[in-house]
Amino acid sequence: MADDCFAHPRLAAIYDPLDPDRGDLDAYLRLTDELSARRVLDIGCGTGVFALLLAERGVEVVGVDPALASLDVARAKPGSGRVRWIHGDATDLPPLRVDLATMTANVAQAIADPQSWRKTLQGARDALRPGGHLVFETRVPARRAWEEWTRASSDQETEIPGVGSVRSWVELIDVSPPLVTFRWTYAFAADGQVLTSDSTLRFREREEIEQDLKAHGYVVRDVRDAPDRPGREFVFLARRP
Ligand SMILES: C[S@@+](CC[C@H](N)C(=O)[O-])C[C@H]1O[C@@H](n2cnc3c(N)ncnc32)[C@H](O)[C@@H]1O
Repeated sequence: MADDCFAHPRLAAIYDPLDPDRGDLDAYLRLTDELSARRVLDIGCGTGVFALLLAERGVEVVGVDPALASLDVARAKPGSGRVRWIHGDATDLPPLRVDLATMTANVAQAIADPQSWRKTLQGARDALRPGGHLVFETRVPARRAWEEWTRASSDQETEIPGVGSVRSWVELIDVSPPLVTFRWTYAFAADGQVLTSDSTLRFREREEIEQDLKAHGYVVRDVRDAPDRPGREFVFLARRP
């Protein structure tokens, strides 16, 4: 079950306008070129921003996400017919032989349950052709990103065409490393509706992820920095032998 911020139709519709700077995806586009990937599986594709950027470049893309409302947003975008959208997770995939599987924007952390995580690594591996790569990012636990997730630092008013003004902020609910739970609140000025969405993220250590990848039949080729968030993310590059 996806969190309300992705699965509630009114919240999925404002995901992109609330976070319009997707400079984080540049590094994934460069990696797609570096690996000469022509077929890509985007796991946790959400509203489809990365999948559509790839499709525009002529890459064959499959996007999978458990949040139907986010997929509906993706499907309504120009060019969406070029992407194959699947409602579900990495256990719901048809037979594929992709060159690259991705999880952008810390999807790996949203897969907090250990069993779902193992199944995701297995499903991604099965979807890759031999020699294909899995690339994903996860926040560095030692940087304690959650300490910056305060109402004061996040409180913002965003004017969204067709929606009106939306005030949004985040508050921490529980910090029990490796799990961190927080709540986003969204107040819609147009009709006064206030919606909340709770999320729990898992902050995994680099060694733990390397072990998980090896246990699921990957070779860890590299662990990089995210160029747009130096020192804050581990970017894993793993290969199916
Ligand atoms: C922060 S959003 C990122 C969306 C997209 N990758 C992007 O770059 O905008 C996290 C996404 O992970 C999805 N998600 C949650 N659990 C998942 C799972 N078990 N398998 C695949 N995706 C999942 C959510 O529905 C949501 O769309």
